[in-house]
Amino acid sequence: MAAIEKLMDKLVSLCKRRGFIFPSSEIYGGLNSCYDYGPLGVELKRNIKDFWWKAMVQSRDDIEGLDASILMHPRVWEASGHIANFTDPMVDCKVCKARFRADEIKPEKAGQCPRCGNKDALTEARNFNLMFKTFMGPVEEAANVVYMRPETAQGIYVNVYNVMQSSRQRIPFGIAQIGKAFRNEITPGNFTFRTREFEQMEMQFFVKPGTDMEWFEYWKAQRIAWYDGLGVRKNKLQFHQHGPTELAHYAAAAFDIEYEFPFGWKELEGIHNRTDFDLKRHAEYSGKDLSYFDDATREKYVPYIVETSAGCDRTVLTTLIDAYDEDVIEGEARTVLHLAPVIAPIKAGVFPLVKKEGMPEVAQKIYQDLKKHFPVFYDDGGAIGRRYRRMDEAGTPFGITIDGQTLQDQTVTVRDRDSLVQTRVANDKLLPFIQEQMAAYKRVD
Ligand code: GAP
Repeated sequence: MAAIEKLMDKLVSLCKRRGFIFPSSEIYGGLNSCYDYGPLGVELKRNIKDFWWKAMVQSRDDIEGLDASILMHPRVWEASGHIANFTDPMVDCKVCKARFRADEIKPEKAGQCPRCGNKDALTEARNFNLMFKTFMGPVEEAANVVYMRPETAQGIYVNVYNVMQSSRQRIPFGIAQIGKAFRNEITPGNFTFRTREFEQMEMQFFVKPGTDMEWFEYWKAQRIAWYDGLGVRKNKLQFHQHGPTELAHYAAAAFDIEYEFPFGWKELEGIHNRTDFDLKRHAEYSGKDLSYFDDATREKYVPYIVETSAGCDRTVLTTLIDAYDEDVIEGEARTVLHLAPVIAPIKAGVFPLVKKEGMPEVAQKIYQDLKKHFPVFYDDGGAIGRRYRRMDEAGTPFGITIDGQTLQDQTVTVRDRDSLVQTRVANDKLLPFIQEQMAAYKRVD
């Protein structure tokens, strides 16, 4: 494994070089903490979102999907508590003008600027609201203020009965959504780990009060298992329970799923028992009755909510970090991404050994056939070893080589990115062979 301290630099460079992630507006010098996903990155991100959607919506009978708007009625954010509570304490250095979150300054270094080192240089902490504010319509006045949503969850809460009635669901049931969220973070950083614009994959599960902790435990187990399916190494994941001072304003219980990033154990996903806080507040602020009537038991109650809230960009970053490796093959260094086939942007590279003797024609046919089923990359340029290396860096799990023997017996070699084993497979068995290999994939550490 690459030395930890260099890993982030190497990964950032690979992301740019191979088209996973670029700095935003780069020709203008970039925009702090904003990133664009390139051709491979957008595929990886889509695959992760699809994998989540399949697990959380399509494979279940008790969860429905939603895509709510980013801009919502401003009263939503009063009801949710974000206007009053969604703040971070901020301090400024009077000497070098750097800005920090006050809760990130170590108590033994109180007053000392982490950047310039001057003592007694920091201002008193001031609360800073993390929501981005904008105006609806042409007039910039207080009555027209709207906020860019800081979490996707609220779009779900205000739609709970629209979804429940239209889909004929009954409690317990959930609503899932993937979408952008915005937070004016004081200290974004660590590449895409903390940014001001990011995507969340959130699911809100509505349950009868009293059953909430049981569902909370259920969702904890489900969610950590999901990362296993994604190919993330188990020993790099842990739960972190929120203590009383860490709990968000809405949560009665909360666990983070943390990943061991090169910069420490950090939150990847939050699982929260939000009680009936949100629906009660929306009932109060909207004047609408948001209680649920259970026909079977004749009971009326405000549902409790168990939330699973994952960051999509953070998951992309996690899969890249977890997959990154360097090794030496036949005396030559290689960089490889051990991405699980289900999320790999390209599933197979197709390589005619030479650009003659009918090999390109056979390779093209194989390429066109496989392309109907999953993304494949055709490469006939340069030595075969270099073509393999390029696909290793892109995280492509299989390399298919069309060689002299192919022309005689209609077989090709399939090279496994991780084990480097080469298997001869009949051309007409290639698709089922690759599909079986993908289904049987297990991450080898
Ligand atoms: N609805 C609950 C909620 O938003 P959160 O713990 O504040 O909870 C959930 O955020 C997830 O969203 C985090 O675990 C993280 O993966 C992602 N996330 C939060 N802030 C982020 C940021 N500034 N940049 C990237 N991802 C972020």
